[in-house]
Amino acid sequence: PMHGRMHGAAHDHAGRVPAVRSGPAVTPFSVRMPVPATRIPSVQTADTDIYRMSVQPATAQILPGLSTPVLTYGGAFCGPTIRARRNRRTLITFDNKLGHETNVHLHGGRVAAVHDGYPTEVIAPGSGRAYLYPNAQPGATLWYHDHAHHLEAENVYRGLHGFYLIDDEDERRLGLPSGGYDVPIMLRDALFDDAGNLVFDPADPYNRPTLLANGKPQPYFEVAARKYRLRLLNGSTHRVFELTLDGARMTQIATDAGLLPAPVPVDRLVLSSGERADIVVDFGQAPLGGHVTLNDVAGPVLRFDVVRRAADRSRVPAQLRPMSPMPTAVQDRKLVLSLDPVNIRALINDRVFDPARVDMQVRRGTTEIWEVTNSDTNVGGSGFGVPHNFHTHLSHFLLLSRDGKPPLPGEGGWKDTVLIQPGETVRLQVDIGSHLGRYVYHCHMLEHSALGMMGQMEIVN
Ligand code: C2O
Ligand code: CU
Repeated sequence: PMHGRMHGAAHDHAGRVPAVRSGPAVTPFSVRMPVPATRIPSVQTADTDIYRMSVQPATAQILPGLSTPVLTYGGAFCGPTIRARRNRRTLITFDNKLGHETNVHLHGGRVAAVHDGYPTEVIAPGSGRAYLYPNAQPGATLWYHDHAHHLEAENVYRGLHGFYLIDDEDERRLGLPSGGYDVPIMLRDALFDDAGNLVFDPADPYNRPTLLANGKPQPYFEVAARKYRLRLLNGSTHRVFELTLDGARMTQIATDAGLLPAPVPVDRLVLSSGERADIVVDFGQAPLGGHVTLNDVAGPVLRFDVVRRAADRSRVPAQLRPMSPMPTAVQDRKLVLSLDPVNIRALINDRVFDPARVDMQVRRGTTEIWEVTNSDTNVGGSGFGVPHNFHTHLSHFLLLSRDGKPPLPGEGGWKDTVLIQPGETVRLQVDIGSHLGRYVYHCHMLEHSALGMMGQMEIVN
Protein backbone atom coordinates (compact mmCIF):
# COMPACT_ATOMS: atom_id res chain seq x y z
CA PRO A 1 0.00 0.00 0.00
CA MET A 2 1.02 3.53 -0.77
CA HIS A 3 0.89 6.14 1.92
CA GLY A 4 2.97 8.77 3.63
CA ARG A 5 5.63 10.33 1.50
CA MET A 6 5.13 8.10 -1.51
CA HIS A 7 3.36 10.72 -3.47
CA GLY A 8 3.74 12.05 -6.94
CA ALA A 9 0.70 14.17 -7.44
CA ALA A 10 1.67 17.02 -5.15
CA HIS A 11 4.78 17.71 -7.11
CA ASP A 12 2.94 17.29 -10.39
CA HIS A 13 0.06 19.56 -9.41
CA ALA A 14 2.34 22.45 -8.62
CA GLY A 15 5.10 21.59 -11.02
CA ARG A 16 7.71 21.99 -8.34
CA VAL A 17 9.33 20.13 -5.51
CA PRO A 18 7.98 21.40 -2.20
CA ALA A 19 10.33 22.77 0.41
CA VAL A 20 10.58 20.69 3.56
CA ARG A 21 9.04 22.59 6.42
CA SER A 22 8.13 21.12 9.71
CA GLY A 23 6.95 24.01 11.89
CA PRO A 24 7.48 24.40 15.63
CA ALA A 25 8.48 21.27 17.51
CA VAL A 26 6.05 19.98 20.11
CA THR A 27 6.92 17.71 23.00
CA PRO A 28 4.53 14.76 22.76
CA PHE A 29 2.04 14.35 25.61
CA SER A 30 2.69 17.80 27.04
CA VAL A 31 -0.84 19.18 26.54
CA ARG A 32 -4.16 17.80 27.65
CA MET A 33 -6.69 16.64 25.09
CA PRO A 34 -9.99 18.48 25.49
CA VAL A 35 -13.33 16.91 24.69
CA PRO A 36 -15.30 19.27 22.44
CA ALA A 37 -18.17 20.85 24.38
CA THR A 38 -21.64 19.58 23.59
CA ARG A 39 -23.83 22.38 22.33
CA ILE A 40 -27.10 22.96 24.18
CA PRO A 41 -30.10 23.67 21.91
CA SER A 42 -31.35 27.25 22.19
CA VAL A 43 -34.95 26.07 21.83
CA GLN A 44 -36.56 22.65 22.10
CA THR A 45 -40.01 22.01 20.65
CA ALA A 46 -41.99 18.78 20.91
CA ASP A 47 -40.09 17.22 18.01
CA THR A 48 -37.14 19.51 17.20
CA ASP A 49 -33.93 20.75 18.79
CA ILE A 50 -33.10 24.21 17.47
CA TYR A 51 -29.62 25.67 17.33
CA ARG A 52 -27.96 28.77 15.98
CA MET A 53 -24.24 28.78 15.32
CA SER A 54 -21.92 31.24 13.70
CA VAL A 55 -19.22 30.28 11.25
CA GLN A 56 -16.49 32.68 12.19
CA PRO A 57 -12.77 33.32 12.30
CA ALA A 58 -11.21 32.87 15.72
CA THR A 59 -7.88 32.38 17.42
CA ALA A 60 -7.06 28.99 18.90
CA GLN A 61 -4.36 27.87 21.33
CA ILE A 62 -3.14 24.80 19.50
CA LEU A 63 0.63 24.85 19.97
CA PRO A 64 2.03 25.74 23.40
CA GLY A 65 2.76 29.47 23.61
CA LEU A 66 1.43 30.31 20.14
CA SER A 67 -1.88 31.59 18.81
CA THR A 68 -3.29 30.22 15.58
CA PRO A 69 -5.88 32.00 13.44
CA VAL A 70 -8.50 29.43 12.50
CA LEU A 71 -12.00 29.17 11.05
CA THR A 72 -14.55 27.84 13.45
CA TYR A 73 -18.06 26.82 14.24
CA GLY A 74 -19.06 28.88 17.24
CA GLY A 75 -15.53 30.01 18.03
CA ALA A 76 -14.19 26.56 18.92
CA PHE A 77 -11.40 24.82 17.02
CA CYS A 78 -12.89 21.40 16.25
CA GLY A 79 -16.38 22.83 16.66
CA PRO A 80 -18.97 22.02 19.32
CA THR A 81 -20.45 18.53 19.35
CA ILE A 82 -24.11 18.27 18.42
CA ARG A 83 -25.89 15.38 20.12
CA ALA A 84 -29.07 14.38 18.36
CA ARG A 85 -31.63 11.74 19.21
CA ARG A 86 -32.86 9.26 16.62
CA ASN A 87 -36.16 10.41 15.07
CA ARG A 88 -36.02 13.78 16.79
CA ARG A 89 -35.23 16.59 14.38
CA THR A 90 -32.35 19.03 14.53
CA LEU A 91 -32.65 22.49 12.99
CA ILE A 92 -29.42 24.48 12.86
CA THR A 93 -29.03 27.94 11.45
CA PHE A 94 -25.46 28.73 10.49
CA ASP A 95 -24.55 32.41 10.20
CA ASN A 96 -21.67 33.02 7.85
CA LYS A 97 -19.32 35.56 9.44
CA LEU A 98 -16.26 34.47 7.48
CA GLY A 99 -16.04 37.05 4.74
CA HIS A 100 -16.13 34.31 2.12
CA GLU A 101 -18.51 31.54 1.09
CA THR A 102 -19.16 28.44 3.13
CA ASN A 103 -21.87 25.85 3.52
CA VAL A 104 -22.47 22.90 5.80
CA HIS A 105 -22.73 19.20 5.07
CA LEU A 106 -23.74 16.59 7.62
CA HIS A 107 -21.39 13.77 6.69
CA GLY A 108 -23.22 10.44 6.93
CA GLY A 109 -26.59 12.10 7.48
CA ARG A 110 -29.64 11.04 5.51
CA VAL A 111 -31.20 14.41 4.85
CA ALA A 112 -33.29 16.08 2.14
CA ALA A 113 -31.27 17.34 -0.84
CA VAL A 114 -31.98 20.98 -0.03
CA HIS A 115 -30.42 20.49 3.43
CA ASP A 116 -27.44 18.44 2.30
CA GLY A 117 -24.95 21.23 1.69
CA TYR A 118 -24.81 20.79 -2.07
CA PRO A 119 -21.40 22.15 -3.20
CA THR A 120 -22.77 25.15 -5.09
CA GLU A 121 -25.55 25.98 -2.61
CA VAL A 122 -23.47 28.23 -0.45
CA ILE A 123 -24.15 30.69 2.33
CA ALA A 124 -23.04 34.15 1.20
CA PRO A 125 -20.92 36.14 3.64
CA GLY A 126 -23.17 38.01 6.04
CA SER A 127 -26.14 35.71 5.61
CA GLY A 128 -27.40 32.57 7.27
CA ARG A 129 -28.99 29.29 6.31
CA ALA A 130 -31.04 26.76 8.26
CA TYR A 131 -30.40 23.06 7.82
CA LEU A 132 -32.96 20.49 8.93
CA TYR A 133 -31.73 17.04 9.92
CA PRO A 134 -34.41 14.40 10.55
CA ASN A 135 -32.07 11.92 12.35
CA ALA A 136 -34.25 9.12 10.97
CA GLN A 137 -31.38 6.67 10.99
CA PRO A 138 -29.64 4.42 13.51
CA GLY A 139 -27.27 5.86 16.08
CA ALA A 140 -23.94 6.82 14.57
CA THR A 141 -20.87 9.02 14.78
CA LEU A 142 -21.40 11.67 12.12
CA TRP A 143 -19.66 14.99 11.61
CA TYR A 144 -20.44 18.30 10.02
CA HIS A 145 -18.08 20.28 7.85
CA ASP A 146 -17.82 22.83 5.07
CA HIS A 147 -18.61 21.71 1.51
CA ALA A 148 -18.40 24.87 -0.62
CA HIS A 149 -17.04 23.75 -3.99
CA HIS A 150 -13.33 24.48 -4.50
CA LEU A 151 -13.08 25.89 -0.95
CA GLU A 152 -13.90 22.72 0.99
CA ALA A 153 -10.32 21.52 1.46
CA GLU A 154 -9.05 24.82 2.82
CA ASN A 155 -12.15 25.58 4.88
CA VAL A 156 -12.10 22.19 6.57
CA TYR A 157 -8.33 22.30 7.01
CA ARG A 158 -8.60 25.66 8.78
CA GLY A 159 -11.11 24.29 11.25
CA LEU A 160 -14.63 23.93 9.89
CA HIS A 161 -15.30 20.49 11.33
CA GLY A 162 -17.27 19.20 14.30
CA PHE A 163 -18.90 16.04 15.65
CA TYR A 164 -22.57 15.23 15.25
CA LEU A 165 -23.61 12.18 17.24
CA ILE A 166 -26.95 10.42 16.92
CA ASP A 167 -28.09 8.63 20.07
CA ASP A 168 -30.44 5.74 19.69
CA GLU A 169 -32.65 3.92 22.25
CA ASP A 170 -31.83 0.51 20.77
CA GLU A 171 -28.19 1.29 21.21
CA ARG A 172 -28.60 2.64 24.72
CA ARG A 173 -30.16 -0.67 25.81
CA LEU A 174 -26.96 -2.50 24.88
CA GLY A 175 -25.17 -0.99 27.87
CA LEU A 176 -22.08 0.22 26.01
CA PRO A 177 -19.89 2.77 27.82
CA SER A 178 -21.74 6.09 27.86
CA GLY A 179 -21.79 9.56 29.38
CA GLY A 180 -18.30 10.72 30.29
CA TYR A 181 -16.95 7.37 29.13
CA ASP A 182 -18.11 7.98 25.54
CA VAL A 183 -15.46 10.24 24.03
CA PRO A 184 -15.35 11.61 20.48
CA ILE A 185 -11.80 12.07 19.20
CA MET A 186 -11.10 13.90 15.99
CA LEU A 187 -7.73 13.05 14.52
CA ARG A 188 -6.19 15.23 11.86
CA ASP A 189 -2.92 16.62 10.68
CA ALA A 190 -1.64 20.14 10.05
CA LEU A 191 1.39 22.16 9.03
CA PHE A 192 2.29 25.23 11.07
CA ASP A 193 4.81 27.96 10.40
CA ASP A 194 7.10 29.15 13.17
CA ALA A 195 4.62 31.83 14.24
CA GLY A 196 1.91 29.21 14.72
CA ASN A 197 -0.08 29.96 11.57
CA LEU A 198 -1.70 27.07 9.74
CA VAL A 199 -0.10 26.59 6.33
CA PHE A 200 -2.42 25.24 3.68
CA ASP A 201 -0.73 23.96 0.53
CA PRO A 202 -3.20 21.86 -1.45
CA ALA A 203 -0.40 20.71 -3.74
CA ASP A 204 1.58 19.23 -0.88
CA PRO A 205 -0.85 17.50 1.46
CA TYR A 206 1.83 15.04 2.59
CA ASN A 207 3.83 17.68 4.42
CA ARG A 208 1.55 18.10 7.42
CA PRO A 209 3.64 16.63 10.19
CA THR A 210 1.74 17.81 13.27
CA LEU A 211 -0.84 15.28 14.45
CA LEU A 212 -3.78 16.71 16.37
CA ALA A 213 -6.33 14.97 18.57
CA ASN A 214 -9.35 17.17 19.28
CA GLY A 215 -7.30 20.13 18.12
CA LYS A 216 -4.21 19.59 20.28
CA PRO A 217 -0.81 18.24 19.20
CA GLN A 218 -0.07 14.69 20.43
CA PRO A 219 -1.90 15.30 23.71
CA TYR A 220 -2.47 13.17 26.78
CA PHE A 221 -5.87 12.26 28.13
CA GLU A 222 -6.53 11.10 31.69
CA VAL A 223 -8.79 8.09 31.96
CA ALA A 224 -10.17 5.78 34.63
CA ALA A 225 -9.25 2.10 34.74
CA ARG A 226 -12.44 0.96 33.02
CA LYS A 227 -14.05 0.62 29.60
CA TYR A 228 -14.45 3.63 27.31
CA ARG A 229 -16.14 4.08 23.99
CA LEU A 230 -13.85 6.12 21.76
CA ARG A 231 -15.36 7.56 18.61
CA LEU A 232 -12.46 8.05 16.25
CA LEU A 233 -12.88 10.32 13.25
CA ASN A 234 -10.28 11.12 10.65
CA GLY A 235 -10.99 14.82 10.15
CA SER A 236 -7.93 15.38 7.96
CA THR A 237 -8.50 16.55 4.45
CA HIS A 238 -6.03 14.06 3.03
CA ARG A 239 -4.01 11.92 5.47
CA VAL A 240 -4.72 8.24 5.93
CA PHE A 241 -4.24 7.22 9.58
CA GLU A 242 -2.96 3.72 10.27
CA LEU A 243 -3.56 3.31 13.98
CA THR A 244 -2.41 0.83 16.56
CA LEU A 245 -2.89 0.87 20.32
CA ASP A 246 0.01 0.11 22.61
CA GLY A 247 -0.89 -1.15 26.09
CA ALA A 248 -4.50 -2.27 25.62
CA ARG A 249 -6.67 -4.03 23.07
CA MET A 250 -9.14 -2.38 20.73
CA THR A 251 -12.60 -3.76 20.06
CA GLN A 252 -14.33 -2.11 17.14
CA ILE A 253 -18.07 -1.72 17.63
CA ALA A 254 -19.10 0.72 14.93
CA THR A 255 -18.10 2.10 11.60
CA ASP A 256 -19.24 5.16 9.63
CA ALA A 257 -22.99 4.63 9.73
CA GLY A 258 -23.32 3.01 13.13
CA LEU A 259 -22.94 -0.26 14.98
CA LEU A 260 -21.37 -3.33 13.43
CA PRO A 261 -23.39 -6.56 13.58
CA ALA A 262 -20.99 -7.81 16.26
CA PRO A 263 -17.89 -6.44 17.99
CA VAL A 264 -14.59 -7.11 16.25
CA PRO A 265 -11.18 -7.23 17.94
CA VAL A 266 -8.76 -5.16 15.84
CA ASP A 267 -4.97 -4.73 15.98
CA ARG A 268 -4.81 -1.98 13.43
CA LEU A 269 -7.32 0.59 12.23
CA VAL A 270 -6.95 2.30 8.90
CA LEU A 271 -9.01 5.47 8.62
CA SER A 272 -9.00 7.63 5.54
CA SER A 273 -10.34 11.16 5.43
CA GLY A 274 -13.91 11.25 6.73
CA GLU A 275 -14.04 7.67 8.01
CA ARG A 276 -15.08 6.82 11.57
CA ALA A 277 -14.52 3.86 13.83
CA ASP A 278 -15.97 3.51 17.32
CA ILE A 279 -13.86 1.32 19.53
CA VAL A 280 -14.15 0.11 23.10
CA VAL A 281 -10.93 0.08 25.09
CA ASP A 282 -10.73 -1.32 28.61
CA PHE A 283 -8.13 0.81 30.37
CA GLY A 284 -8.45 -1.60 33.29
CA GLN A 285 -6.02 -3.73 31.26
CA ALA A 286 -3.29 -1.22 32.12
CA PRO A 287 -1.93 -0.70 35.65
CA LEU A 288 -3.02 2.36 37.60
CA GLY A 289 -0.47 5.05 36.75
CA GLY A 290 0.24 3.32 33.43
CA HIS A 291 -0.09 4.56 29.88
CA VAL A 292 -1.82 3.40 26.73
CA THR A 293 -0.69 5.02 23.50
CA LEU A 294 -2.53 5.45 20.24
CA ASN A 295 0.04 5.45 17.45
CA ASP A 296 -0.10 6.26 13.79
CA VAL A 297 2.57 4.93 11.41
CA ALA A 298 3.92 8.51 11.43
CA GLY A 299 4.24 8.66 15.23
CA PRO A 300 2.28 8.78 18.46
CA VAL A 301 -1.08 10.53 18.30
CA LEU A 302 -2.46 10.43 21.83
CA ARG A 303 -1.49 8.97 25.21
CA PHE A 304 -4.08 7.78 27.68
CA ASP A 305 -2.92 8.11 31.28
CA VAL A 306 -4.71 5.72 33.61
CA VAL A 307 -5.06 7.81 36.75
CA ARG A 308 -7.97 6.49 38.79
CA ARG A 309 -10.35 3.66 39.40
CA ALA A 310 -14.02 3.86 38.58
CA ALA A 311 -16.98 1.53 38.71
CA ASP A 312 -17.87 -0.01 35.38
CA ARG A 313 -21.21 -1.59 34.66
CA SER A 314 -20.88 -1.14 30.90
CA ARG A 315 -20.57 -4.12 28.62
CA VAL A 316 -19.97 -5.05 25.02
CA PRO A 317 -22.66 -7.57 24.03
CA ALA A 318 -21.79 -10.30 21.53
CA GLN A 319 -24.47 -9.04 19.14
CA LEU A 320 -24.81 -5.33 18.45
CA ARG A 321 -27.15 -4.83 15.52
CA PRO A 322 -28.83 -7.28 13.18
CA MET A 323 -28.01 -6.67 9.53
CA SER A 324 -31.25 -6.67 7.63
CA PRO A 325 -30.98 -8.30 4.20
CA MET A 326 -30.76 -5.84 1.32
CA PRO A 327 -33.01 -5.97 -1.71
CA THR A 328 -31.31 -7.33 -4.83
CA ALA A 329 -29.36 -4.70 -6.72
CA VAL A 330 -31.11 -3.28 -9.77
CA GLN A 331 -28.11 -1.77 -11.52
CA ASP A 332 -24.35 -2.20 -11.92
CA ARG A 333 -22.07 0.79 -12.37
CA LYS A 334 -18.37 1.39 -12.72
CA LEU A 335 -16.60 4.49 -11.47
CA VAL A 336 -12.93 5.23 -12.06
CA LEU A 337 -11.04 7.81 -10.00
CA SER A 338 -7.95 9.45 -11.49
CA LEU A 339 -5.84 12.56 -11.20
CA ASP A 340 -4.98 14.63 -14.25
CA PRO A 341 -1.77 16.32 -13.05
CA VAL A 342 -1.09 18.01 -16.37
CA ASN A 343 -4.29 20.03 -16.21
CA ILE A 344 -4.44 20.09 -12.41
CA ARG A 345 -7.77 18.34 -12.36
CA ALA A 346 -9.17 15.31 -10.59
CA LEU A 347 -11.67 13.09 -12.35
CA ILE A 348 -14.37 10.48 -12.01
CA ASN A 349 -14.88 8.58 -15.26
CA ASP A 350 -12.65 11.14 -16.98
CA ARG A 351 -14.79 14.12 -16.05
CA VAL A 352 -14.58 16.90 -13.50
CA PHE A 353 -17.63 17.76 -11.40
CA ASP A 354 -20.21 19.84 -13.22
CA PRO A 355 -23.26 20.86 -11.23
CA ALA A 356 -25.16 21.19 -14.52
CA ARG A 357 -24.55 17.55 -15.48
CA VAL A 358 -26.27 14.54 -13.92
CA ASP A 359 -23.86 11.62 -13.97
CA MET A 360 -26.35 8.95 -13.05
CA GLN A 361 -30.03 8.62 -12.38
CA VAL A 362 -30.90 6.22 -9.62
CA ARG A 363 -34.20 5.01 -8.23
CA ARG A 364 -35.28 5.89 -4.75
CA GLY A 365 -35.35 2.97 -2.31
CA THR A 366 -33.30 0.61 -4.49
CA THR A 367 -29.83 -0.83 -4.15
CA GLU A 368 -27.10 -0.84 -6.76
CA ILE A 369 -23.67 -2.38 -7.20
CA TRP A 370 -20.95 0.19 -7.70
CA GLU A 371 -17.43 -0.86 -8.59
CA VAL A 372 -15.07 1.96 -7.81
CA THR A 373 -11.49 1.80 -9.10
CA ASN A 374 -8.52 3.94 -8.18
CA SER A 375 -6.50 3.93 -11.40
CA ASP A 376 -3.71 6.12 -10.03
CA THR A 377 -0.84 3.65 -9.87
CA ASN A 378 1.61 5.92 -11.67
CA VAL A 379 0.50 9.53 -11.52
CA GLY A 380 1.93 11.67 -14.30
CA GLY A 381 4.59 9.04 -14.95
CA SER A 382 6.07 9.69 -11.50
CA GLY A 383 6.19 6.02 -10.63
CA PHE A 384 4.08 6.76 -7.55
CA GLY A 385 0.56 5.72 -6.82
CA VAL A 386 -1.88 7.93 -4.97
CA PRO A 387 -4.60 6.63 -2.67
CA HIS A 388 -8.14 7.92 -3.03
CA ASN A 389 -11.27 7.24 -1.14
CA PHE A 390 -14.92 7.33 -2.02
CA HIS A 391 -17.78 8.94 -0.15
CA THR A 392 -21.46 8.94 -0.99
CA HIS A 393 -23.93 11.52 0.21
CA LEU A 394 -27.31 10.23 1.42
CA SER A 395 -26.57 6.63 0.43
CA HIS A 396 -24.86 4.18 2.74
CA PHE A 397 -23.17 1.07 1.45
CA LEU A 398 -21.78 -2.32 2.34
CA LEU A 399 -18.28 -3.08 1.17
CA LEU A 400 -18.60 -6.43 -0.63
CA SER A 401 -14.98 -6.88 -1.67
CA ARG A 402 -11.60 -5.30 -2.34
CA ASP A 403 -10.04 -6.63 -5.51
CA GLY A 404 -12.32 -9.63 -5.18
CA LYS A 405 -11.20 -10.41 -1.63
CA PRO A 406 -13.53 -10.12 1.36
CA PRO A 407 -13.22 -6.89 3.38
CA LEU A 408 -11.70 -6.78 6.85
CA PRO A 409 -14.18 -7.64 9.64
CA GLY A 410 -14.12 -4.04 10.89
CA GLU A 411 -15.33 -2.94 7.46
CA GLY A 412 -18.33 -5.24 7.70
CA GLY A 413 -20.97 -2.68 8.66
CA TRP A 414 -22.77 0.18 6.98
CA LYS A 415 -20.35 2.74 5.62
CA ASP A 416 -20.34 6.00 3.73
CA THR A 417 -16.62 6.35 3.03
CA VAL A 418 -14.08 3.77 1.90
CA LEU A 419 -10.36 3.88 1.22
CA ILE A 420 -9.20 2.74 -2.23
CA GLN A 421 -5.49 2.09 -2.65
CA PRO A 422 -3.74 2.71 -5.98
CA GLY A 423 -4.90 0.14 -8.51
CA GLU A 424 -7.54 -1.24 -6.18
CA THR A 425 -11.21 -1.82 -6.97
CA VAL A 426 -13.88 -1.86 -4.28
CA ARG A 427 -17.25 -3.41 -4.88
CA LEU A 428 -20.06 -1.72 -2.97
CA GLN A 429 -23.72 -2.48 -2.55
CA VAL A 430 -25.27 0.93 -2.23
CA ASP A 431 -28.52 1.56 -0.41
CA ILE A 432 -29.63 4.66 -2.31
CA GLY A 433 -31.99 6.02 0.32
CA SER A 434 -35.46 7.47 0.37
CA HIS A 435 -35.02 11.11 -0.61
CA LEU A 436 -35.33 12.61 -4.08
CA GLY A 437 -33.05 15.08 -5.82
CA ARG A 438 -29.40 15.63 -6.56
CA TYR A 439 -26.63 14.43 -4.30
CA VAL A 440 -22.89 14.24 -4.83
CA TYR A 441 -20.39 11.46 -4.35
CA HIS A 442 -16.68 12.16 -4.33
CA CYS A 443 -13.19 11.40 -3.21
CA HIS A 444 -13.03 12.63 0.39
CA MET A 445 -9.42 13.65 0.05
CA LEU A 446 -10.80 17.13 -0.19
CA GLU A 447 -7.89 18.50 -2.20
CA HIS A 448 -9.10 16.07 -4.89
CA SER A 449 -12.82 16.86 -4.67
CA ALA A 450 -11.88 20.55 -4.86
CA LEU A 451 -10.17 19.75 -8.17
CA GLY A 452 -13.28 18.04 -9.49
CA MET A 453 -13.15 14.41 -8.31
CA MET A 454 -16.87 14.45 -7.65
CA GLY A 455 -20.01 13.42 -9.50
CA GLN A 456 -23.70 13.70 -8.89
CA MET A 457 -26.62 11.34 -8.93
CA GLU A 458 -30.20 12.30 -9.34
CA ILE A 459 -32.59 10.23 -7.28
CA VAL A 460 -35.92 9.76 -9.03
CA ASN A 461 -39.15 7.94 -8.27
CU1 C2O B 1 -17.56 14.66 4.38
CU2 C2O B 1 -19.18 15.28 0.69
O1 C2O B 1 -18.31 15.04 2.53
CU1 CU C 1 -8.68 11.35 -4.22
